[in-house]
Amino acid sequence: MAEVALALINSVLLPPELKAAVHSIDWLTDSERQKLTQLLAPRRRLQFLVGHGLVRQLLAAQYGGDPWHDWPLDAPTNGPPCLLSQTRQSGLKVALSHSAAWVAAAVSNSALGLDVETPNERRSLQTMLGSIGTREEQVTFNAIAPSDQAREFYRIWTLKEAWLKQRHEGLALGRLPLLQTRPARESDPLTARVWHFRGLTMSCLAPAEAKPIWWNAPSGLEESELPQQWAVDELPVAYGSDDLHIVATCA
Ligand SMILES: CC(C)(COP(=O)(O)OP(=O)(O)OC[C@H]1O[C@@H](n2cnc3c(N)ncnc32)[C@H](O)[C@@H]1OP(=O)(O)O)[C@@H](O)C(=O)NCCC(=O)NCCS
Repeated sequence: MAEVALALINSVLLPPELKAAVHSIDWLTDSERQKLTQLLAPRRRLQFLVGHGLVRQLLAAQYGGDPWHDWPLDAPTNGPPCLLSQTRQSGLKVALSHSAAWVAAAVSNSALGLDVETPNERRSLQTMLGSIGTREEQVTFNAIAPSDQAREFYRIWTLKEAWLKQRHEGLALGRLPLLQTRPARESDPLTARVWHFRGLTMSCLAPAEAKPIWWNAPSGLEESELPQQWAVDELPVAYGSDDLHIVATCA
């Protein structure tokens, strides 16, 4: 049975165990240390440490063991962390995403993609959607009330990123206008649950039957509206040559 466990944390308000782990990093594996040395911005380093610590806490909470000793992770340059030792559980997948102070983590025994975004007021959503949206998504966006447009934009964005990340695809701006988001149908094997919470949007793509289990839902999240389920279709490459031109100028 497919299952997915989730954690979401604000790194400004870290619980004591994670706060201590961020300062004493002896639990990192060699490959994680190597990746950390390449990260220079303090905020990015904090995101990395909180994310990799949070994943260990989630793995231990879900599958047992000690978070800091029993769940060593490999940290490939262009990919999500993966378990170095499969002795406790085989085939587990890990996903991470961060935006500003927020860090989200997920573990699953099946396909998994995760993305979280917080609004950036300096960016024009309409312009960005012109680069990453299909024609249908742009028409819908332009037709809705301006007060709902940010929510719509970040739904589309996080869904597409979660979809790409589930496939371990890296920066793929040219692919985004060829991914059509739509409400999920019963026949969809993979669906994304989308939460809108305290200004952030989070999408988690997993098998449709995998009901998310929250390990540490921040207060208020459980009372927020139930996540909607969405799916992503790949459009044929020949679709909308205009879109491909726009993408080239964005990339
Ligand atoms: C990999 C990628 C998807 C990460 O996106 P991001 O929004 O910058 O970063 P996130 O915080 O969501 O995710 C980063 C985490 O994803 C994981 N990750 C890295 N590469 C990955 C890949 N190829 N596939 C899946 N997960 C990946 C890592 O765990 C990383 O965190 P860590 O380095 O601290 O371990 C990014 O390189 C990318 O391709 N983004 C597409 C950007 C884009 O088109 N945006 C549209 C806006 S116009």
